[in-house]
Amino acid sequence: AGFYYALQTVRQLLPPDLRKDTNSQTQGWELPCVEITDHPRFGYRGLMLDVSRYFIPKATLLRTIDCMALLKLNKLHLHLVDDNGWRLEIKRYPRLTQVGAWRVKRDEPFPARKNPLPGEQTTEGGFYTQQEMKEIIDYAESRQIEIIPEIEMPAHTNSSLAAYPELACPVVKSFIGVIPGLGGKNAEIIYCAGNDSVFSFIENVLDEVMALFPSRYVHLGGDEAAKTHWKNCPLCQHRIQTENLANEEELQGYFMERVSRYVRSKGKTVMGWDELTNSKLPEGAVIYGWRGDGEAALKAAELGHPFILTPARTLYLIRYQGPQWFEPLTYFGNNTLKDVYQYEPVKDKWKPGYSQLLQGIQGSLWTEFCSTPQDVEYLIYPRLAALAEVAWSEKGKKDWTGFLSRLDRFNLHLSHKGIDYARSMYNIDHKVLPRNGELEVSLSCIRPDLEIRYTTNGDAPDGRSALYSTPLTIAGNCNLKAATFNGSEQKGEVLTLPVHFNIATAKPVTGENINTRLLTNGLRGSDRHTDGEWCGWYAQDGSFVADLGERQKITRVSLGSLNNFGMGVHPPRYVKLYLSDNGQSYHQVATIQRTQAQNFAEGTQAVDIHLDVHPQKGRFLKVEFGNPGKCPANHVRAQQDTWVYFDELIVE
Ligand code: ACM
Ligand code: ZN
Repeated sequence: AGFYYALQTVRQLLPPDLRKDTNSQTQGWELPCVEITDHPRFGYRGLMLDVSRYFIPKATLLRTIDCMALLKLNKLHLHLVDDNGWRLEIKRYPRLTQVGAWRVKRDEPFPARKNPLPGEQTTEGGFYTQQEMKEIIDYAESRQIEIIPEIEMPAHTNSSLAAYPELACPVVKSFIGVIPGLGGKNAEIIYCAGNDSVFSFIENVLDEVMALFPSRYVHLGGDEAAKTHWKNCPLCQHRIQTENLANEEELQGYFMERVSRYVRSKGKTVMGWDELTNSKLPEGAVIYGWRGDGEAALKAAELGHPFILTPARTLYLIRYQGPQWFEPLTYFGNNTLKDVYQYEPVKDKWKPGYSQLLQGIQGSLWTEFCSTPQDVEYLIYPRLAALAEVAWSEKGKKDWTGFLSRLDRFNLHLSHKGIDYARSMYNIDHKVLPRNGELEVSLSCIRPDLEIRYTTNGDAPDGRSALYSTPLTIAGNCNLKAATFNGSEQKGEVLTLPVHFNIATAKPVTGENINTRLLTNGLRGSDRHTDGEWCGWYAQDGSFVADLGERQKITRVSLGSLNNFGMGVHPPRYVKLYLSDNGQSYHQVATIQRTQAQNFAEGTQAVDIHLDVHPQKGRFLKVEFGNPGKCPANHVRAQQDTWVYFDELIVE
């Protein structure tokens, strides 16, 4: 492996466009004269690919393996099973791929996709034959990469349950299909823990998996198992009694330990998500920490278990990698290139001993929002290069600007392979906030080697536009445009900030929610409720007060709200407006009610709520609003709580 990695370093130092076929091409090759002594910080330097939510074609896996090898990453964890598709041929159970690998076509974003109906055509999906997987394993092995198979259980298993519904608890009466989205209540359908034939099934599947994959590890998943049906299932309850278990959580412990014992009997080591720490850990299990900055895995470390960190907050590659206005849609949250690069897995507060148990780190790519190989590669690169440096380099060796110049060279290799890596690192983040009756605009880019240039007259910025250095102050309507430049070369997208002043703009807003200051920043949000322009309330009514500074004549008040069906974001059930001159005694001046049908529309749209006010003066404007309540029965999130989001308070 060491020799192979040395070659990769040489390869990185050479130009990307080496050609094997013509000698003349070698003329221009140049290598700096260097001496390098090198070794990795961690033995586990991984990437997880979720091939269930989106079936990643074999060719894309091979190209990913090439890039991992160039970056000296050495573990590829394949999430082969989930509610949305079973991706590996199992010869003994052909329906796993005949049925379980295929789902209905739904064109909505993942969270908004409705469950399949019985008899619907299932046209989307695919799977790897064992022969294809063997080729992938061999390809990886010759590049010093070990493929770790994950066969999820007991939850995230609607794909196998669609094929073999008798493996679910007998209390489940609903149709089980391969889920195209989040699944709502159907995601609570999991393997029955009281039915011995479930364990025979799993053992037979694992026999083929363990024969196919040379890895010493088998990942058994174990995350996010809803106990809804186990609570009502006579077989599961009988198991709890006969095994003397305290509750359904301990029943999962029994489930995982029983399968783990089988895996151990074959000489392999079990891995699982950090939910395995919720009950007795299977002997010897290696735990992947993903929740709470990965700290959930420390419970395993405390018991002497090896662990790997892949914290959702920093190393989940499904999250936005830059300013959300320019990115393809995902659930929420940002993990920028810089966030990944600056991640330090070992914390000062750790007990001695934990760091010896830390095997390494992993970037995990969940593919709910991917539908092409390009979508996958966009999310992987260039963050994979940052991950590789964190996994390889010693703590304290971090150098962000040095990394960027190395990255620019590495990206030439990506381009040469035809990979469209994300250029999010060139885009501008903005913050527009009220400050003493004016608006303060802060712009930033994670690349310190670029200049930010801007205009305020609506013209596109160029290399001669005003140079941004400190926050700008805006006192009236303005159409600000900005982009990053290297000299005269524009590097990122043009950020456009159309700032509109109304009576409330730049005025202070108070309320229990810290983000209410965004309501008077003169700027509307996008249709992304997590873009930094929205103020949200979950499962509760809310209120806030705007201080207009002096008595103002008011005729109309508008609130920008959002409807995002898939994410359970809906407009408020009612809005009530009150005015006051002293901020103490208020009188109601307008109210509006919205119906259930108006509030739970499908799709994603801005919904502006207008309230006409009988013209009158007042200084303090209080807004009270009602949460729309739980999602109705026909909703993808039936019975789940809802969010209300506002981006702007507009007073005229
Ligand atoms: C996970 O993100 N459910 C492991
Ligand atoms: Zn059961």
